[in-house]
Amino acid sequence: MGERHVERSGLARGLGRRQVLGIGGALGLTAVGGLAASAALSRHPAVTGTVLHSAVPLPPAFQVPLPLPAVLAPVSRTGGVDRYEITQREVTMEILPGVRTPMWTYGGTFPGPTIESRRGRPVTVTHRNDLPVPTVVHLHGGRTPAASDGYPTDLVLPRSWPDTAHGTHAGHGGNGPGHAMRDPRAVQTRRTRDYTFPMDQRPTLLWYHDHRMDFTAPAIWRGLAGLHIVRDGAEESLGLPSGPRELPLMIADRAFAADGSLAYPSLDPSLRDRPGVREPYLAGVLGDVILVNGAPWPVHEADAAKYRLRILNASNARHYELEAVDDDGRRLDLVQIGADQGLLAAPVAHGRLPIAPAERYDVVVDFSGVPVGNRVRLVNRLGSGRTREVMAFRIARKVTDHSRVPATLAKDLPNWRRSDAVRVRDFSFRAGRMHGDHGWLIDGLPFDPARSDVTVRLGDVEVWRLVADVHHPVHLHLVGFRVLTRGGGSPLAHDAGLKDTVSLRPGESAEIITRFDGYRGRYLFHCHNAEHEDMGMMANVEIT
Ligand code: C2O
Ligand code: CU
Ligand code: CU
Repeated sequence: MGERHVERSGLARGLGRRQVLGIGGALGLTAVGGLAASAALSRHPAVTGTVLHSAVPLPPAFQVPLPLPAVLAPVSRTGGVDRYEITQREVTMEILPGVRTPMWTYGGTFPGPTIESRRGRPVTVTHRNDLPVPTVVHLHGGRTPAASDGYPTDLVLPRSWPDTAHGTHAGHGGNGPGHAMRDPRAVQTRRTRDYTFPMDQRPTLLWYHDHRMDFTAPAIWRGLAGLHIVRDGAEESLGLPSGPRELPLMIADRAFAADGSLAYPSLDPSLRDRPGVREPYLAGVLGDVILVNGAPWPVHEADAAKYRLRILNASNARHYELEAVDDDGRRLDLVQIGADQGLLAAPVAHGRLPIAPAERYDVVVDFSGVPVGNRVRLVNRLGSGRTREVMAFRIARKVTDHSRVPATLAKDLPNWRRSDAVRVRDFSFRAGRMHGDHGWLIDGLPFDPARSDVTVRLGDVEVWRLVADVHHPVHLHLVGFRVLTRGGGSPLAHDAGLKDTVSLRPGESAEIITRFDGYRGRYLFHCHNAEHEDMGMMANVEIT
């Protein structure tokens, strides 16, 4: 066995205990935020984020049919590679009935088109940027070489944008001197870029989204998100619900301004120069409209049969605790069959299922016992008022259902043991100061693309101990991980399987274990509260 030692990650050096506690402990927002003391000072607030209220009347729930994002057709399949093209462009859509909303889209829809791929068959996506600002695409959960992983400074510049290569920090206005970050390793292109994904990974639901430094949160909010599904024969042979009984559900909250546009508290609504959000929203932007696949509180006509729901929380900051309840108040089990990174070893039944931003859950819910004509509502136990509802299924007909949920789902789950780890690292995720403003910090430091925070050796197994002040969904690029412990004890039922995002609750710690394999290069780990991510809560992992 290799060297085995415990080290504090290098980021923490020089940061005293008093600073960490003093800044992070009370959320750190009162100094700049002027939030009500009771909410901001609460050591374990129930919600991390502030609701932005819509200025248009909101539609009643369960009227709009659930849209299913179109599956993108490849432009070619020659040479063993599936090639796709997506144009990022602004379109005006009708999200709320009768309301016109300009959005930034992948291919003119929200969500963007779904890419369906086969394990081991490479995919190349040519993205063309017709938006007014730089963009960069990241395939979340993809096992992707660094050059195609969507590093936040690897920008695709629009036609009319100054050539900023190697002085790539877009947020140069309004942040004062000293904040002009440069990234000598940035690889920028103009108008288009090819992203190549080997798809050498377990079948699962991935999603692609914008990852531009400092501006990821408003870009996703405006619509830059889509689904990407990886399949293989082994999964297909299990007999799980499929075809029309397999539904991807991208859940995202939004708010609408009086003119129908999406409301967002950007300091610079052009998203050109100054990053950041107005003070009350520093902990995260929550909308008061719940969209599923881009429709507000939709309804889906369903058979009285088992359904496979592939749920993604694409919200910037909102957490959900999902529950399926029928008209008689009976709760249906959410039978989890998969996590972020694919199938579990065996199904796990949940009454309620918490889902943090960027997490995915693959669940089977059985409508066979629900009388025809009745509804099953998917509710959010963490919401209040309208945000308590998510969507509904209206059971339309009795059918024969040959689908099944086998007791053994997958046998290929990595089972790293603590003794496999050559290193243990600690990282804190806390509020703090960044360039004189409020920031969200990892081990006391805001993101700097030019700094190498963590260096790991390709193939090494490591244990990472993560600790949070408020809610922080922590995401690692490239690798899936297992949750070893949570709060010093056993992981929770929904921590099962292979994850790429783990939801830390206020004041909580968790240990994760992974093997850094796949590719060498520069990757990221960060908080997936998108506002936190934009306000510094990212760090680099160099795999050598
Ligand atoms: Cu959804 Cu850096 O990731
Ligand atoms: Cu990612
Ligand atoms: Cu966070």
